[in-house]
Amino acid sequence: MKIAFFSTKIYDREFFDRYITTHEIIYFDAPLNEQTARLATGCKAICVFVNDKITAAVLKALKNIGVELIALRCAGFNNVDIVAAEADGITIVRVPEYSPYAVAEHAVALILTLNRKTHKAYNRVREGNFSLDRLTGFDLHIKTIGVIGTGKIGQLFCKIMLGFGCQVLAFDVVANRQLEAAGVEYLPLIDILGAADIISLHCPLTEQTQHIINAQTIAMMKEGVMLINTSRGALVNTAAAIDGLKSRRIGYLGLDVYEQEETLFFNDLSENIIDDDEIMRLLSFPNVLITSHQGFFTEEALAEIARVTLSNVDEFEAGNKLKNRVV
Ligand code: NAI
Repeated sequence: MKIAFFSTKIYDREFFDRYITTHEIIYFDAPLNEQTARLATGCKAICVFVNDKITAAVLKALKNIGVELIALRCAGFNNVDIVAAEADGITIVRVPEYSPYAVAEHAVALILTLNRKTHKAYNRVREGNFSLDRLTGFDLHIKTIGVIGTGKIGQLFCKIMLGFGCQVLAFDVVANRQLEAAGVEYLPLIDILGAADIISLHCPLTEQTQHIINAQTIAMMKEGVMLINTSRGALVNTAAAIDGLKSRRIGYLGLDVYEQEETLFFNDLSENIIDDDEIMRLLSFPNVLITSHQGFFTEEALAEIARVTLSNVDEFEAGNKLKNRVV
């Protein structure tokens, strides 16, 4: 099958070319939108990533040129207008799980870096500055960790933090009995917010979870709390997080995702004027660490994304039942 790839980066080509079988891939750097949709003319399938917006208008444009399948090379599908896709009869498949370890481990990397300031120490020592001033961290041992969402990624994160000797509290719409047996305590969100030294978000972005971190929930947190978001940017109200940093309620902020990331992340903008004042304000704080949606970015995850995406297309082409169907 002929597949048009949108938002392609060098690593997408590397891994998909490694696993390609009978399909023909046409790689485009451009993101998918109403204007670029026509690049897929002649292709029955397209393949997109997290920040490609599959709106009703984009779906119409794709349908008009005969696209039947959209293969998401990611797990989240909050960027897809599901109702419109159903109405247009366009099938959507995804990669529900590629490496939950990659994201859970990245959340821990953000915690350790923010806490022990290894990013600052690295730069200091390279400049011949061997001073320890202002590099003080804290022991993770016996600290309280609040985990919001204990699905595939959240549960691995809980287990890693238990390994550090932390007390792990969790909030989810469904409790995981195995985690409870391992020592994780499920509590209402409000109790976790007030008790946790570190809060890490691992729930999907839905109507219920959008801005779950806002002025009210930040006000309930401990003074100096560390907040980590490796899930989806819009879980956190950015303006409220900035206020929380200014008031010192938030003592550390680690983000791998950002509410307005579409126009920034995955691109080298080092010679550009960045118009987004909120991200520039965030970057001005010494206790904020932002990575550019790289939680998933391991060899293992990229290989699995390519393998499963291509097998999703195989299943569709063969008319088989689609294991990873969204619509
Ligand atoms: P999952 O579906 O296995 O787990 C999500 C958990 O959140 C489930 O246990 C669910 O019951 C819970 N949940 C749903 N609604 C909730 C609510 N209102 N309050 C509390 N909990 C709720 O998903 P998985 O694989 O663990 O991924 C979690 C998120 O991580 C994804 O939705 C995605 O946004 C993000 N992600 C980020 C990546 C990155 O590179 N930074 C890569 C992959 C995923």
